[in-house]
Amino acid sequence: MSINYDPFSEKAMKDPLPLYSALRAEGKPHYIEKYNAWALTRFEDVMKASTHHEKDVTFTAGQTPGQLLLGEPVLKAFTTMDAPEHRKWRGVIRKNYTPEGIEEHRERFTELARNILEPLLDKGEFDVYHDYANQVFCLNSGYNLGLSSSESISCRRLIDEMLHRDSGQVGSGSTRNQKAATELMTFLANFVQKVRANPDLAVRHTAAYLYADIDGKQLDDEELALLLLNFLIVGSETTPMVVAGMLYHLAQNTDVKMRVLNDHRLIKELYIETCRYDQPTNMLCRRAVNAFDLNGAHILPGQNLLYIYASANRDEEEFEQADTFNIFRKRRRDLSYGAGGHKCLGMHMATMGAEILVSELFKSISDYEVLEDQCERSYGEFLNGYLTVPIRVTL
Ligand code: HEM
Repeated sequence: MSINYDPFSEKAMKDPLPLYSALRAEGKPHYIEKYNAWALTRFEDVMKASTHHEKDVTFTAGQTPGQLLLGEPVLKAFTTMDAPEHRKWRGVIRKNYTPEGIEEHRERFTELARNILEPLLDKGEFDVYHDYANQVFCLNSGYNLGLSSSESISCRRLIDEMLHRDSGQVGSGSTRNQKAATELMTFLANFVQKVRANPDLAVRHTAAYLYADIDGKQLDDEELALLLLNFLIVGSETTPMVVAGMLYHLAQNTDVKMRVLNDHRLIKELYIETCRYDQPTNMLCRRAVNAFDLNGAHILPGQNLLYIYASANRDEEEFEQADTFNIFRKRRRDLSYGAGGHKCLGMHMATMGAEILVSELFKSISDYEVLEDQCERSYGEFLNGYLTVPIRVTL
């Protein structure tokens, strides 16, 4: 029986995993006529498309399902450039995100985590996502741009508003989304004016891109504002969801929970397995520019491709007992951060940050319980995972 898959359907936005399982069982990419798009749901297909066919696709048509399938405006930054331009603009801040580069931030980030955590421990109950992980990553993203704490928090609130989906809403066109997008862009446009007028105010990522000159090209005001917006989003969106998921999934198995609480070296395994099991980047998209064959699908120029990471990471052909959360599992390959030239730039920072957040928490408590009935998952086409995980801690 053919599957009626629409990434914007209620079913797909609420709980897509049963759909993904059915799509993988088809054994090849699934064509969606309505969007002239191929959904890649198998691990091998996403990996092969990412690594063997990068030259056959363009990133310039956007990366989100809304941009590719609904024609929403493309957020222009290096994330939506093709090689070789992409490599050069990404390269401007690449060194900040290498394993050595992120080490420079360990102490500051740990301090930040401790400051946010301390009053939460006194309260005894808090939401891992909103009160803790999102706060820390949001302040960290703001720091990278040179924003004050209150500016960082208000930008993050606007990003949440932009990404909010009402039940049944298709795309990001609601008044609520648009109002937040306008407010955020106005703030960033003013910020860019401010640093242009007084370049001494530009620090870190903002300074790097303010002065960047690639083949004689410099960013204009709008390009700089969009690039900064991109960093605010990617730096504070997915990792807090993974941290919330780590606490949630770990609590489902008391024995494993006690092992991790007593041996913090396992936190990294917990992080990696949570990224796999509850991949926060549900999907990203590209558009084909050349014809190519992919495991039984003949892809034509102009067709859209959905790289569904959250499905690939549950593929039984790649992961034994893929639907079981097992921090001790053996892995051959990884797709959680994507693959190919656009592979996640922030992967080392995300891993280090998540490890710090959870180990700082576990150093301070002897146990915790998840307030299950208050937990909430994301709803929408783009993100996947826990957005509310309240916990009660025992010191
Ligand atoms: C500090 C946190 C993070 C930062 C700063 C960050 C930054 C970025 C950036 C800048 C890109 C675009 C790279 C490019 O186009 O060249 C990217 C892509 C991506 N990131 Fe992250 N990221 C973070 C956390 C995460 C996490 C936790 C995950 C999932 C586990 C993730 C998954 C991805 C994926 C799947 C891509 C797309 C790769 C592709 O297109 O092939 N990121 N990230």
